Amino acid sequence: MERFTELTILQPEDKEGIEEPRTLGDELVEGKKRLYIESYGCQMNFSDSEIVAAVMRNAGFATTSSADEADLIFLNTCAIRDNAEQKVRNRLKQLNTLKKKKPELMVGMLGCMAERLKTKLLEEEQIVDIVAGPDAYRDIPKLVEEAETGQKAVNVFLSREETYADIAPIRLNSNGVTAFISIMRGCDNMCSFCVVPFTRGRERSRDPHSIVREAEQLFNDGYREVTLLGQNVDSYKWESENGEERVNFAHLLERVALVNPDLRVRFSTSHPKDITDEVLYTMAKYDNICNYIHLPAQSGNSRILKLMNRTYDREWYLGKIDRIRAILGDDCGISHDMISGFCSETEEEHQDSLTLMEYARFDYGYMFAYSERPGTLAAKKYADDVPEDVKKRRLNEIIALQQRMSLERNQRHIGKVQRVLVEGTSKRSEDDLFGRNDQNKVVVFPRGSHQKGDYVNVRVTDCTAATLLGQVVNIE
Ligand code: SAH
Ligand code: SF4
Ligand code: F3S
Repeated sequence: MERFTELTILQPEDKEGIEEPRTLGDELVEGKKRLYIESYGCQMNFSDSEIVAAVMRNAGFATTSSADEADLIFLNTCAIRDNAEQKVRNRLKQLNTLKKKKPELMVGMLGCMAERLKTKLLEEEQIVDIVAGPDAYRDIPKLVEEAETGQKAVNVFLSREETYADIAPIRLNSNGVTAFISIMRGCDNMCSFCVVPFTRGRERSRDPHSIVREAEQLFNDGYREVTLLGQNVDSYKWESENGEERVNFAHLLERVALVNPDLRVRFSTSHPKDITDEVLYTMAKYDNICNYIHLPAQSGNSRILKLMNRTYDREWYLGKIDRIRAILGDDCGISHDMISGFCSETEEEHQDSLTLMEYARFDYGYMFAYSERPGTLAAKKYADDVPEDVKKRRLNEIIALQQRMSLERNQRHIGKVQRVLVEGTSKRSEDDLFGRNDQNKVVVFPRGSHQKGDYVNVRVTDCTAATLLGQVVNIE
């Protein structure tokens, strides 16, 4: 219940801010030191852990999915809200017990909380031996060596260039069907509530050739879906050194779509200020670019959006929704992020968030109560003056509305046939498989003779607010 008031997951998938940790899988290699990584926060962090695993494998480590068996434990942390950090601190307390049993165990903090707190983490948490920020992952083997001599090791330098483009990530805990490809790092927007620009540094785009190569490799390895990741994918921008080749996000999307028509392409996150008609037309042109856009709103009120420094207003946001519907039709899945109780938000302004949601008819959403982050513009300039119980009550209203809309949006699929990419066995029953349709909705259906990685046609017969249920039909 407590989690419900913080955020609602109307989709059983991973997404920014969901603070459920993820771990990497096992590699049984005799005689090697074993690394255990636990990732918190957004998809970027999960994707980064795969890079860290690759760096560490090159340095002679094997990975394990059991913290008890590890010689080295990394927590790849998130700082987006206070509760994300509290979760990591509690985990460190548990690890203390482990360390008592095994004094040679080393603990490293990676990611956004490591970057935010830097050496302060070493002072506050005795158990931590290594602190490495998001741009310091190549340096980790050296930091481990340093820590092995008994010193504490820290690298929190942020880079303007690092994209880890040449490092092939290790997909250890993957379903073998869907994968993330990081296309850019950092963020140059300064949303006043957000800690990301401080923890991930300046925005930089990765070489498109290395992105396409990674997508090709994944397809050859049997993967059938890639998600292109960035904090603001629409501002992807790359130029060759001689200036002859210029690639924006629409071009990149097209290049990845052309890898193979059987490779689905998704992307996240789109910023309402930057998403262009060119991107929408590219989506319309290629069947394998999924009809789904995650378009965080944060608020439905123009004054609050201005205080948030989102650089668009309500009308602009609604205009983008209209363009999506005009170019991609009503079928395009749209999800959002919403924050309740930002500094000075009134009841009327909160109502504007609800009416914006009703207008947009979002398929699902990720909804949060505002959590002041030290060092951000909002923390410096505005009072965090909406009482906690009011934030929670507003959040619950937002969640209730979203639940209703999600159910309505899902009911529209009943009776229709959906193309589904099978991702694995349903959590609820061994006899069922699950996958996702074009709009990113989870579809559950009886297994039959199908397996993960297959594309199947499923007629939807029933639904909840989170899931579509159906039967496979054979159509040629
Ligand atoms: N780059 C993405 C968002 C990344 S953070 C974008 O611009 O939309 C993921 C989500 O966490 C945000 O969309 C926002 O809704 C939420 N969030 C970020 N900072 C927050 C804070 N201080 N309090 C509450 N929610 C926050
Ligand atoms: Fe944070 Fe805004 Fe950047 Fe998203 S666009 S990561 S909300 S600063
Ligand atoms: Fe992601 Fe959390 Fe960092 S949402 S970018 S891991 S602060």
